[in-house]
Amino acid sequence: MYNLLKGKKGIIFGALNEKSIAWQVAQRAVEEGAQIVLTNTAMAARMGETQELADKLGTIFVPADATSVEDLELLIDRAMEHFGGKFDFILHSIGMSPNVRKGRKYDDLDYGLLQKTLDISAISFHKVMQVARKKDAINEWGSIVALSYIAAQRTLYGYNDMADAKALLESIARSFGYIYGREKRIRVNTISQSPTPTTAGSGVMGLDGLMDFSNRMSPLGNATALDCADYVLTLFSDLTRKVTMQNLFHDGGFSSMGMSRRAMKIYSQQLAEMAAAEEANIIFQDVSRR
Ligand SMILES: NC(=O)c1ccc[n+]([C@@H]2O[C@H](COP(=O)([O-])OP(=O)(O)OC[C@H]3O[C@@H](n4cnc5c(N)ncnc54)[C@H](O)[C@@H]3O)[C@@H](O)[C@H]2O)c1
Repeated sequence: MYNLLKGKKGIIFGALNEKSIAWQVAQRAVEEGAQIVLTNTAMAARMGETQELADKLGTIFVPADATSVEDLELLIDRAMEHFGGKFDFILHSIGMSPNVRKGRKYDDLDYGLLQKTLDISAISFHKVMQVARKKDAINEWGSIVALSYIAAQRTLYGYNDMADAKALLESIARSFGYIYGREKRIRVNTISQSPTPTTAGSGVMGLDGLMDFSNRMSPLGNATALDCADYVLTLFSDLTRKVTMQNLFHDGGFSSMGMSRRAMKIYSQQLAEMAAAEEANIIFQDVSRR
């Protein structure tokens, strides 16, 4: 422990269960001396264990739907009441695609559901910051972080409309980061995290294969939820006061790789098997599935 967040206070969105990245951030933030308020939807509170985490960490849980400005206003008021004034950090750890849930493919999206994906997973980040700024809720040199994924920059098979949501999320971080930085020296960043086995993560098509691929491609291997929590804490701490408007990759090196020896090995094995099958006259390629 480093007492990295001693005296700091903040709101953490998105702790559903112990697999959640936000759950790990909440625990680590308290270990590092922070005071926190936990929030999630009322439904998540019924399905998940957010209230239990709040009890364990000796804090309060305030239900709020992050797409509702009214809920966010009540949340910020309640947090300021709890903290006795302004606070220092916010973690936005929220993502959900109703299109993915309903099995709609990217070339057959329901546009009403796309609006919901964007509202929940990206526009809510703008709403959180707009409400916080209007209420002047965050101390100077505060820090706001949201969680993203590399599908915002590069196409990954099966990530669907969440790729568009993450691209918007990262853009909002830059646009709001300019305003908040200029006015209040508050920094806004996104962390682009490795695939992680959480409830939201399991919605991604072929998560096991994707995790194995990322792990083989990354010289340091995939970053876990706990690794991510540690990185988030550095951004909440005073050690990163001039870092803002960035999308920061936290992925064991994945984002800089083209091909690794470990991934090539699997690919070559598969290629050899396919060649053998071809020789045996087995039709194995279905072009429509590429
Ligand atoms: N798991 C991964 O592979 C991975 C990789 C990169 C980035 N991320 C991002 O990390 C963040 C956290 O996800 P996670 O993997 O910990 O999964 P998770 O399922 O534990 O967390 C997602 C949270 O979003 C909350 N949420 C959904 N709709 C909401 C709403 N309307 N208002 C408020 N909260 C709402 C859920 O209740 C849940 O707590 C997400 O932004 C996700 O896209 C995840």
